[in-house]
Parts: sequence; structure tokens; C-alpha cells
Amino acid sequence: MSNAAKNILVVGGAGYLGSVLVPELLDRGYAVKVFDRLYYGNYLSKDVLDRIAFEVGDMRTISPPSLREVDAVINLGGLSNDPTAEYNPKANYEMNTVAAEKLARLCGEMDIQRYVLASSCSIYDVGEGDEAKDILLDESAAVDPQAAYSRSKYDAEQTLLSLRESVCPIVLRMGTIFGFSPRMRYDLVVNTFVMSALRNGYMTMFSGGEMWRPMLNIRDAARAYIACLQAPRDKVCGQIFNVVGRNYRISELVAEGAGGSPPGRGRGRRASGLPLQGHSKLPCLRKEDRARTEFPSRHLR
Ligand SMILES: NC(=O)c1ccc[n+]([C@@H]2O[C@H](COP(=O)([O-])OP(=O)(O)OC[C@H]3O[C@@H](n4cnc5c(N)ncnc54)[C@H](O)[C@@H]3O)[C@@H](O)[C@H]2O)c1
Repeated sequence: MSNAAKNILVVGGAGYLGSVLVPELLDRGYAVKVFDRLYYGNYLSKDVLDRIAFEVGDMRTISPPSLREVDAVINLGGLSNDPTAEYNPKANYEMNTVAAEKLARLCGEMDIQRYVLASSCSIYDVGEGDEAKDILLDESAAVDPQAAYSRSKYDAEQTLLSLRESVCPIVLRMGTIFGFSPRMRYDLVVNTFVMSALRNGYMTMFSGGEMWRPMLNIRDAARAYIACLQAPRDKVCGQIFNVVGRNYRISELVAEGAGGSPPGRGRGRRASGLPLQGHSKLPCLRKEDRARTEFPSRHLR
């Protein structure tokens, strides 16, 4: 799919990832329309808003006129973390699963070439504290979606893949994203640590930081969606792709920010046992050191 005069509809395009992806699409010459309910407001810059079409609406009631002249759909909409999904599991399922399917069916009916769905590595849902399972998983690994959020993503994936005859579905199972966006999310682990480090001078780590997280830079995430638009159909249609940068223990992330080793062991090693009980506050940035020790750009590209 060449990008010249291609119209991309980004559902949920005003969110954390969308606010980075949309300008990237514009930079590559795509025509962009954002469809968003604006749960968190609209942080797209005036420069971006001047160059896109924008429709405020709920994806649960999206209808054909919203997809007119669209060539490909990127679906970033719906509830995007465990707490919101647990708070209202019904709404979560309606948005993340039912609306995702409805959108795919509309794409099929309207002959829209591609549909890229934002899914999540949380559907693997294994490995906490279990050394044997704490490995970077690929797309062939067994899934175990237990929470409302991961279940809703998994069900959406399955439905989409069953529609591959009528639409070209592509599923991106993303790791935990980090990095700057005009619409920041501070519920994501690295962003939380950076905010706390800058605001308070320390980061708070719970239960020894033993959990692993597959981390993903937000710009890499955006580029993955663009790659899905540009790749030959036969390479991507009906496919699931895990999109991650590197697997980190939470304690490693904290150590990177604090400029040292994870407490109780060397960096990057997998140690058993929890040296810390409860939560601990790790000193991070002394005020007078900020200019020198602020996270360098390689962390927050
Ligand atoms: N951020 C991550 O670490 C991460 C990791 C894996 C998967 N994902 C998935 O990627 C997608 C984007 O994540 P994000 O971090 O940008 O989330 P976000 O919550 O910042 O953005 C979601 C956007 O969708 C909109 N939206 C929500 N419900 C809607 C509805 N019913 N109708 C129309 N718009 C609606 C919101 O207003 C918001 O602008 C989500 O599907 C999320 O589940 C995110």
C-alpha cells in the first residue's frame, strides 16, 4: 500500500499512542481522520488538527458515513488498562471486543483494505515470579487471558482473524509502552517512574520489582502500525505480531533510572528470592543533580 493519497482512519487517535502516531502518519504523506470519544481530552496540536479530519464519537455506534473514503483503519480505541476494564467490564467488552468486531465487519462491507488492531502482550498473562515462565514469548506461545482487559483483547483478536476472508486484519500485541506523548499516560510503569523521579526525587518499587515487563518505545509502536500499512498484503494479513523492545524486570527499570544495580543483585541477572518486602523508595534524583542525572534521551525517545 503506497502512502500517496491513502486515507487512514485512526479510532482512538487522540489517546496516548494515537497522539504520536497521527503526526507520524502525516509526516509520511497519509491523509488522516481521527475518530475518538475524547475520554481524556484532545492534546493533538493545532498544527496537527489543522491537517486532519476529526470526528467525535463513540466507536460502539460508529456507522458507515464515518468510514467513507477510508482505505485502512487503525483501531486504538476502547479501554486501555486493567483498572478501567475492571471498573466497568461490560463497557470494556462492548468497546474492546464488540465494537472492534463491528468495525471489522464495516471494513469488509465497505471494501476497506486493512484493519490493524491494537492488542496487548497482557494476554499471555504468565510468568510472575516463575523463573521457568519468565521468558520473552513469541506469537506461537500459549495465551492465558484472565483479566477483563486481556480477555476482551483476546476475544477481539479471535473474531477479527475469523473475518480474514472479508477484511485484511492485522493484530499487534504490544508490550508496555513508554515515552512522551502530548496525551501522557502516567499509569504506565516507566512513565510513572519518570514522573515520580522528577517530581519527588525518588521512585517507589513494590514487592522487590521482580515482575517482568516487555517494554516498547512509543515511537517504535507508532512505526509498527505504519509498517503494517506499508507491508505487502500477503506478509501481514491475518497475522499476529508481538511488538516489544526488551524484557525488563521492574527492578532493572528502577536501577536504570537510579543509575545503579537492582537492589540485592547484579543488573540483568535473574535472581530468585525477594530481597525487599513491601515497597521501597529508591533515591533517584537529588535536586542539585537533576541537570546531570536526568534520564538521557535514549530512555525517552
Ligand atoms: N499504552 C500501552 O502500553 C498499550 C499496550 C498494549 C496495548 N495497548 C492498546 O493500544 C491502544 C491505545 O492505547 P493508548 O495507550 O493510546 O490508550 P489511551 O487510553 O490513551 O487511548 C485510547 C483512546 O481511545 C479513545 N476511546 C476510548 N473508548 C472509546 C470509544 N468507545 N469510542 C471512541 N473512542 C474511544 C479514548 O478517548 C482515547 O483517546 C488501546 O487499545 C490499548 O489497549 C496499549
